[in-house]
Amino acid sequence: MKRRIDEIHHVQGQSYDEALEKEHEASTKVKNIKVIEIGRYEVDTWYFSPYPDVFAMQSRLYICPYSLKYFKRRDSYVRHLAAVTRRGPPGLRIYAAPAPPQPEANAKLGLPQPARLTLYEVDGSTAKVYCQCLCLLAKLFLDHKTLYYDVDPFLFYVLCEEDATGAESLAGYFSKEKSSAEGNNIACILVLPQHQRKGYGKLLIDLAYHITLREGKVGSPEKPLSDLGQLSFRSYWTEVLLEALRTQRGNLSIKDLAASTAIRSDDIISTLQSLNLIRFWKGQHVISVSAKNCR
Ligand code: ACO
Repeated sequence: MKRRIDEIHHVQGQSYDEALEKEHEASTKVKNIKVIEIGRYEVDTWYFSPYPDVFAMQSRLYICPYSLKYFKRRDSYVRHLAAVTRRGPPGLRIYAAPAPPQPEANAKLGLPQPARLTLYEVDGSTAKVYCQCLCLLAKLFLDHKTLYYDVDPFLFYVLCEEDATGAESLAGYFSKEKSSAEGNNIACILVLPQHQRKGYGKLLIDLAYHITLREGKVGSPEKPLSDLGQLSFRSYWTEVLLEALRTQRGNLSIKDLAASTAIRSDDIISTLQSLNLIRFWKGQHVISVSAKNCR
């Protein structure tokens, strides 16, 4: 290993640390696990995830949709599913609502309509193993985020589809630092690929902003945003800001919008700029909107 780093150092003129970092970066770019089986779904993965070695060397992992425990072998997985008693996240249930109609394709595939959507608040310091398993699973679909093991400082808001038997399988989640120096209200957000484009991402984002509003703060997602993250946040901000402009009367300032939506002013400005609804006048941003813009 030392010799290889020497060679990299020599060839590229980098320091040892830089070379090691590059080496690590290169090895983590290689996707290890290709497919996961989770509940009734078989899902192709997108990125590398640092599962412990013996699991990371498998091309297929079996993941329990309730406990998120992972298995190399199908028979161990099936035994676990038969024995698992808690069929939902280990936290506090904070929301439950009838599930929206599912895409037509699901019915064609014979997938049942879930009865309800449920949401749990799970504390990283009390449900450590569950949250670590959640982060490892999420990394299979996230390029940049790097939280896997130090989950204590985070809360996890976990969205589940509940079936007719009351079993609640993971659909998506977002994590949030208990205390964020940067004012982030979402650290990571994921909706599992088989549940994407059903509005679950925006539901989770909406929840995050409602929590922030209740805390009397403003918040913003941790950067960098993925392309899908960018699309989802921009869509959410646009919808909420246009609704606020439509319903709130009088001359609204960026500060007023931030106070009523919990969206941070830089995100408000960039969204209104993309909609051509803001001007820079006498050193200030001025919202310039007519009734037609908010329809
Ligand atoms: N192509 C085009 N538009 C898309 C796509 C897509 N593949 N996916 C979502 N959108 C748009 C939707 O059209 C929708 O906008 P609209 O309401 O104006 O039509 C908006 O984004 C949100 O759609 P949802 O169905 O609510 O989002 P979804 O449930 O699919 O979840 C998420 C979005 C969480 C970003 C999901 O794609 C995902 O988990 N991606 C992988 C992980 C990731 O990239 N996470 C974000 C990283 S950044 C961060 O963590 C702070």
